[in-house]
Amino acid sequence: MSWRDFWNGEHAIYVSDRHKHLHYRRIAQDIAAAVPGRDAAVLDHGCGEALSADLVAAACGRLILCEAAPTVRDRLRARFATLSNLSVVSPEEVAALPDASLDVVVANSLIQYLSTDEFNQCLALWRDKLKPGGELILADVIPPDLSALTDAGELLGFAWRGGFLVAAIGGLVRTAFSDYRKLRAQYGLSTYSAVAVTALLEAAGFAAVTRRPNFGHNPHRMAFWARRPAASVSAQS
Ligand SMILES: C[S@@+](CC[C@H](N)C(=O)[O-])C[C@H]1O[C@@H](n2cnc3c(N)ncnc32)[C@H](O)[C@@H]1O
Repeated sequence: MSWRDFWNGEHAIYVSDRHKHLHYRRIAQDIAAAVPGRDAAVLDHGCGEALSADLVAAACGRLILCEAAPTVRDRLRARFATLSNLSVVSPEEVAALPDASLDVVVANSLIQYLSTDEFNQCLALWRDKLKPGGELILADVIPPDLSALTDAGELLGFAWRGGFLVAAIGGLVRTAFSDYRKLRAQYGLSTYSAVAVTALLEAAGFAAVTRRPNFGHNPHRMAFWARRPAASVSAQS
């Protein structure tokens, strides 16, 4: 099994339906707050189940949800079939979008599942698809020194506030014996320091890199905003 198979299959990464709904609502609120205007074209790359993507679609002109797992794409298409400004695409279809057509690209909780080569390929793709001056937001980036215990503590705090504490305790125990833990041990998660992310963004042609509060419930993970410069050229990769 690979990370791709993991996300395409049934998994218990969310400890309960309530956890999943509260998680996706919070992420959608954070993305919607980052939309620069009602006519903005927004790409959510690695969107997962994006249960509250309608909130983002309501805040922008066009929302493109990109997801690698075919089963997840099918569920997204069924859920949002009536939203005319929302489309669901594969990573290959993102590559086929017109260059300089997006105002914002968001990748929340994605780059830890990519190798550095794959991350660099995504950076080049996002740079080309963003309009000059467009914004890339990388969120939920895991720093190398973040312990699993700190992550667990943040989940328990989110669960306490969200009313799913018992499920969260059970979920943490299950995770300890799960495919996720085995895959994490086998394939690892990519972690980056703030300096390393900034260097990769700048090497890919992004500018004005700033660190901002993270999206979602875990303030120990990091978020970075960066712009495609107005005069950037697309031949750097
Ligand atoms: C941890 S989930 C994050 C989902 C959502 N962004 C969130 O914050 O809850 C990672 C998602 O990224 C998807 N994914 C992994 N690699 C991808 C790639 N190269 N392109 C698009 N999606 C990818 C996985 O299938 C999975 O659904």
